[in-house]
Amino acid sequence: MKRSIVITGGAGFIGSHVVRLFVNKYPDYHIINLDKLTYAGNLANLKDVELRPNYSFVRMDICDFDAFHALMQREHVDGIIHLAAESHVDRSIKDPFTFARTNVMGTLSLLQAAKLYWESLPERYEGKMFYHISTDEVYGALTMNCPEGVQPPFTTTASSTQHHMAYGTEFFTEATKYNPHSPYSASKASSDHFVRAFHDTYGMPTVVTNCSNNYGPYQFPEKLIPLFINNIRHRRPLPVYGRGENVRDWLYVEDHARAIDLIFHRGTPAETYNIGGFNEWKNIDIIHMVVRVVDRLLGRSEGADLDLISYVTDRLGHDARYAIDSSKLQRELGWEPSLQFEEGIERTVRWYLDNEEWLNNITSGEYEKYYESMYAGR
Ligand code: NAD
Ligand code: DAU
Repeated sequence: MKRSIVITGGAGFIGSHVVRLFVNKYPDYHIINLDKLTYAGNLANLKDVELRPNYSFVRMDICDFDAFHALMQREHVDGIIHLAAESHVDRSIKDPFTFARTNVMGTLSLLQAAKLYWESLPERYEGKMFYHISTDEVYGALTMNCPEGVQPPFTTTASSTQHHMAYGTEFFTEATKYNPHSPYSASKASSDHFVRAFHDTYGMPTVVTNCSNNYGPYQFPEKLIPLFINNIRHRRPLPVYGRGENVRDWLYVEDHARAIDLIFHRGTPAETYNIGGFNEWKNIDIIHMVVRVVDRLLGRSEGADLDLISYVTDRLGHDARYAIDSSKLQRELGWEPSLQFEEGIERTVRWYLDNEEWLNNITSGEYEKYYESMYAGR
């Protein structure tokens, strides 16, 4: 079927992987990448697909209601995969307004424009989908009641590759009550509620997914893993927040993109799906792993750069532990992660070291000022 799909935030980290997957896999679809190109948006992430006949790019702010409504009419858009957002927790602590504007008002603006257009059609909502990409951070933080880590109580399927540790007995399920702590997660929680409200009030077919921490190529180097790879490369300090004991649940970005594809096509409207790899790690353990891999690949003695680790003031309101239970998605749609974390980290480090130009283009200019201001006084 010929479809016309808008992917918002397609020039960002996860969005670029979703755009690439859809452009390659669905030559009959028209994939429209809608992105404002904020500091985090980078069209260099999509060099390999930018000339494809089924791909186009539109520079637009998701808050621009009229422009988006006109685009929907012009392109007969029948599917929206919404990733555009302000995504970095540290920035949200410094500037919460930008997060409310983009993440809340921007999402509402897209929903309202989609409603207006789809309700004007004879078939109304039939064959339509508004898919909102959200985060596990909306659920708040879990306690770490097994600090040394234990085997998770549930296993994924027999062929599953991931099972690191569980650092507590509780997990985020689709039924977990929202309890966001940072301005970022509060804004994402609010946008999730608006999406569900458009289903419940107007009957719009919507789906929401809440995913754990992603890692992999094209992630903006303000986030833990690419920031540290870049700093090790330049032998800069590695600013570990607090004691480095916080736990995150990591998923390779291409596995997230595959889940999005599956859910967009086969997910049940009005449902929520949690996406995660059952792959919990303490920050400090990841940092040790990344240092060793970078050192080895750069021909330095393995672990030589561990002395770059520098414990700094903790992030305000720093959530202790995130851990996703993605068994619903695995059971109902047969998705599972494809990579062992160690293999994913090796692949990721290699990618950043092989793509120095991509990294250098980003980390020059404005980024330097951001980096200096973020770590000044720490
Ligand atoms: P990112 O910061 O790398 O990319 C965000 C993209 O959105 C950029 O291309 C940016 O230009 C664009 N954008 C920002 N404001 C915009 C606006 N007003 N109008 C149009 N475009 C705008 O983010 P990411 O890490 O790829 O995250 C993508 C989505 O996935 C976000 O909604 C985020 O909340 C969610 N998510 C991220 C993770 C993660 O680990 N990175 C995990 C779970 C969920
Ligand atoms: O859980 C999903 C979320 O993961 C997404 O919704 C967010 O968009 C994404 O940014 C990510 O949020 P985190 O805050 O978990 O990611 P970040 O890479 O910023 O930090 C990961 C952990 O590492 C966190 O515990 C804070 C810590 N950290 C981070 C940075 C940047 C440090 O110790 N030092 C650092 O310099």
